[in-house]
Amino acid sequence: MTAVASADRRLTIVVGITGGIAAYKAVGVARALVLAGHDVHVVATEGALRFVGRPTLEAISRNPVHTNLYEGVAEVRHVALGQRADLIVIAPATAHTIASLAAGLAGDLLGTTVLASRAPLVIAPAMHTEMWENAATQANIATLRSRGVTIVGPGSGQLTGSDSGAGRMSEPDEIVAVAVAAAGPRDLAGRSILISAGGTREPLDPVRFLGNRSSGRQGVALARAAVARGARVTLVAAHLEVEPPHGVAVEHVGTTDELLATMRRLAPEHDTVIMAAAVADFRPREVAEGKLKKEAVGETLTLELERTPDVLATLAAERAPGQRIVGFAAETEADAEALRALGAAKVARKGADYLVVNRVGWSEGFGTPTNDVMILDATGSVVSTASGDKLSVADRILDALA
Ligand code: CTP
Repeated sequence: MTAVASADRRLTIVVGITGGIAAYKAVGVARALVLAGHDVHVVATEGALRFVGRPTLEAISRNPVHTNLYEGVAEVRHVALGQRADLIVIAPATAHTIASLAAGLAGDLLGTTVLASRAPLVIAPAMHTEMWENAATQANIATLRSRGVTIVGPGSGQLTGSDSGAGRMSEPDEIVAVAVAAAGPRDLAGRSILISAGGTREPLDPVRFLGNRSSGRQGVALARAAVARGARVTLVAAHLEVEPPHGVAVEHVGTTDELLATMRRLAPEHDTVIMAAAVADFRPREVAEGKLKKEAVGETLTLELERTPDVLATLAAERAPGQRIVGFAAETEADAEALRALGAAKVARKGADYLVVNRVGWSEGFGTPTNDVMILDATGSVVSTASGDKLSVADRILDALA
């Protein structure tokens, strides 16, 4: 059973119920959330109300149940519910609902509520195995995941008819636990965080560049975690391999010079700056106007490189009073103390307040879903360490800053 919410953690939660037989289990979801102390507003589709009655849902949620896009127009209900919500949970989410969410459709009240909300969205799919495994459903699920939607289940087991397999909606307790965790603590409300992520690219000619292996996953995870905890987040994206999260303002950059200009422009509007981007240290001194041709170049090509500006050191030198500057360091040093010593020297050299040090190698750190870091303060002391998936590492980094 879920713990009772403390006063400051009383969430306004929209429970979306769509038309599947598992709608009867959604009553359990709404009930567990109400008993945990949350303010629950049910948005049920017409289909859902064929499976479970409105009076049941109103009695359980202790609030009116909303269905119709054309009711409550004076109070702009089609967006008001979503704007007020701290969390939206859709259980069950049918294949049709999942497709509508992936396409961003706003044809019913649940669609407009989701689109008008910046709150975390958690969905619990429920359908027959063939529908769940269908390429269309799986592509829609992948789209939703890439936007930061949390998917609970489905489990495997007895389905509505005589069949059994994947597609059974998760149990209400599990849905509630995942949903409340997704809503996260709002301890960064009122804070503004500027995060750079990905890898810069320095052009050689119009078709080639010098780049690096950063995927942007750790920076994107930081942005996702910070938004979930209530911060206003701007992400400066240099060639990400992953989608930026929902609710984050995104600025795209290519080269180190563009990154520097964008970060300097935005830094004064943020109280914390996190430089998670992998920045090129050198760039070609000359960029060819046209494509370099083998015939013209010959058997070998020598590139002359020049240093790029140090973005982190520049932002640290220009920081506003009270602003916190956080750097990252990716090092190939194997020994933990040697890694710390390198980090200590780097945090001092750059003038940052914190440095997140991680070890990278041919197979570690880059493009992987997990990370292993130590967080140093300005004196080079270890304030915390974290390892695991990049989202939990992001939370530990934010804990150190909070
Ligand atoms: N960084 C930066 N501008 C650069 C290079 C790096 O802002 N031109 C930032 C990175 O975003 C990161 C931190 O500095 O937050 C450390 O990057 P790293 O590459 O580890 O440090 P370098 O100064 O490049 O030192 P090294 O010689 O170890 O590569």
